[in-house]
Amino acid sequence: MKKNKIIVLNFGGQYDQLIVRRVREMGVFAELLDCSTRIEDIDLKNLAGIILTGGPQSVNDKNSLKADDRIFDLGLPILGICYGLQYINHYFGGSVETPKNGEYGKTPLFVDNKSDLFKGVEQESVIWMNHRDRIKDIADGFKKTAWTLNAPVAGIENKEKSIYAVQFHPEVVHSEYGRLMLENFVINIAGAQRDWSMADFAEEKIREIKEKYQGEKMICGLSGGVDSTVAATLVSKAIGDKLQCIFVDHGLLRKDEAKTVMKTYEHLGLNVKMVDRSKEFLDLLKGVTEPEEKRKIIGNHFVEVFEEEAKKIGGAKYLVQGTIYPDVIESGKDKASVIKSHHNVGGLPENMDFVGLVEPLRELFKDEVRKVGQALDIPEDMVQRQPFPGPGLGIRVIGDITEERLEIVRETDAILREEIENFGLKRDIWQYFTVWTPIKTVGVKGDARSYDNVVAIRAVLSTDAMTVEAANLPYDLIQTLANRMINEVKGVGRVVYDITSKPPGTIEWE
Ligand code: XMP
Repeated sequence: MKKNKIIVLNFGGQYDQLIVRRVREMGVFAELLDCSTRIEDIDLKNLAGIILTGGPQSVNDKNSLKADDRIFDLGLPILGICYGLQYINHYFGGSVETPKNGEYGKTPLFVDNKSDLFKGVEQESVIWMNHRDRIKDIADGFKKTAWTLNAPVAGIENKEKSIYAVQFHPEVVHSEYGRLMLENFVINIAGAQRDWSMADFAEEKIREIKEKYQGEKMICGLSGGVDSTVAATLVSKAIGDKLQCIFVDHGLLRKDEAKTVMKTYEHLGLNVKMVDRSKEFLDLLKGVTEPEEKRKIIGNHFVEVFEEEAKKIGGAKYLVQGTIYPDVIESGKDKASVIKSHHNVGGLPENMDFVGLVEPLRELFKDEVRKVGQALDIPEDMVQRQPFPGPGLGIRVIGDITEERLEIVRETDAILREEIENFGLKRDIWQYFTVWTPIKTVGVKGDARSYDNVVAIRAVLSTDAMTVEAANLPYDLIQTLANRMINEVKGVGRVVYDITSKPPGTIEWE
């Protein structure tokens, strides 16, 4: 039987998603499941092996997280990482202790490289540690395969049962041979086939949707962003004109954006209805200055407009959404502190009469979605687009939103985009935009006194928007931007460059 899938059981560690990524980077499909998922709920077909992640708890705590221990009877190869190692050792009768000090960061690791897990790994190398507890007595049937100065047992295995475990984190880039160790497990020990490619994924999804939803009518809200465009293109390749897309112009888009994205949609052969409701949105936002209130007004009205338009079209049973893997994982977590209520314009209208949702990108990370986009021949400019928030320029005009202020953001943003492209930096920066601020400042334009507003430039580097640093834009570029913005855009009196990182700042100003 073909084996081409790895399951990662999530005990709540910091690097859980990273493990999934690493496996997929090898060309093998991997999926993160809650650690307590019962065997009956795991699709065992084609399963090559199971990985148990790290986690913040101690196996000695009464209420510590547990797996369905029947996983150990499946006869499948298992790899435990950090808490995963402690869990395995504890389950098989060994003991785990909590020493005075933990071990965090880079550390030299020594391995027995006769172990299949460490084939090709230097006897001494550097790995990434992040633990407090450690193994005290090794469980019967297991032997020690690795150690560090602080963890006398940093690796164990029971070759007969095909169970391997490590105290450190091979998935983190700082672990020199981490990728090789994971590959040893996934490919050599578990025998998984490398058949996870985005082109195949796209083809398979199209076939699946075609078979499952033959003849059904669907609706999709397009936002101009990568995820909704890729989701809609995929579905449209399966059901053609039975997919009706709706693109709402809320008046908070960038310069020429509505025109440009509509052209792309046309080129992709999508069946799109564009509705211009900008005046309504601006009326609703008149006099509103509080950022959260703005977001709510934009988000709620967006859903209302979408519902209205969907009703007009009528007869659609399914709603297509560009949900991606981090959204799925995020929504399963306890979001204790909401910093900003993110509204995704492709979001689900709660009270609509749909039989179901079609979310073809649910299993994918952002870079994988981009690859699917490329496989579907979506133009590179669309596939590589920078993220754009649902509330659009509405949160880039600080305070009260007026058409005049939006125009200043649109024009300065257009200059910024043009110059970033001229300097060849378009692909290197995660996100870049301008912000209109309510600060008035004195200047001289020609021979006259001017009294105009401050515009800020924001350009950040990131891999996931969770943490960012300000991009170190060349001084020449910043100077060109300031000159052009002040000279070409009416109402701009001064230009400043925002160098705040996240945390403590956020990417958007509101
Ligand atoms: P912050 O400002 O929280 O933004 O650091 C993180 C990322 O999310 C985008 N963003 C949003 N996206 N709806 C969205 O779809 C929103 O309400 C929203 N607010 C922020 C932001 O542009 C950045 O990429």
